[in-house]
Amino acid sequence: MKILFVCLGNICRSPLAEGIMRNKIQQYNLNWEVDSAGTSAWHAGEPPDPRAIAIAARYGIDISRLRARQFSPYDFERFDRIYVMDSDNLQNVLRMALSEKEKQKVSLVLHTTHPASGQEVPDPYYDDDGFESVFRLLDAACEAIIKQYADAKIGL
Ligand code: 4NP
Repeated sequence: MKILFVCLGNICRSPLAEGIMRNKIQQYNLNWEVDSAGTSAWHAGEPPDPRAIAIAARYGIDISRLRARQFSPYDFERFDRIYVMDSDNLQNVLRMALSEKEKQKVSLVLHTTHPASGQEVPDPYYDDDGFESVFRLLDAACEAIIKQYADAKIGL
């Protein structure tokens, strides 16, 4: 299973998701690939936001060596599943899809824990207190994604 997490800047939400998922993959001994990207190139080449690094570290996860990159249409070929954080990301990624098959790889990451609600991972960039709840939402979502594929016996 090859999974990509996508947000706007690739410095807050999606690197947290990547770090959380890498940690779980190790715990569950899964042979999965994980990466993250931003729909914008604003922070390309930068490490995650210090607040994202700090909250991950508090949960024993080191994301300090990740570097931001922009989402590319080539990612549709590289990854089996593309999990986006909010409806803006969803729109921007879907716009680059060239086929129905590529579109079907994309979904809101919280769809797994909150089906049919369209719930988004709030952008914590302007909200120092938002990082804790973002971490918890993403931790639950990553756990649910693993369970989903484990139950289906896919990619294990
Ligand atoms: P992210 O958060 O999309 O979760 O990485 C943001 C990072 C940077 C900006 C906005 C959101 N920005 O406006 O630069």
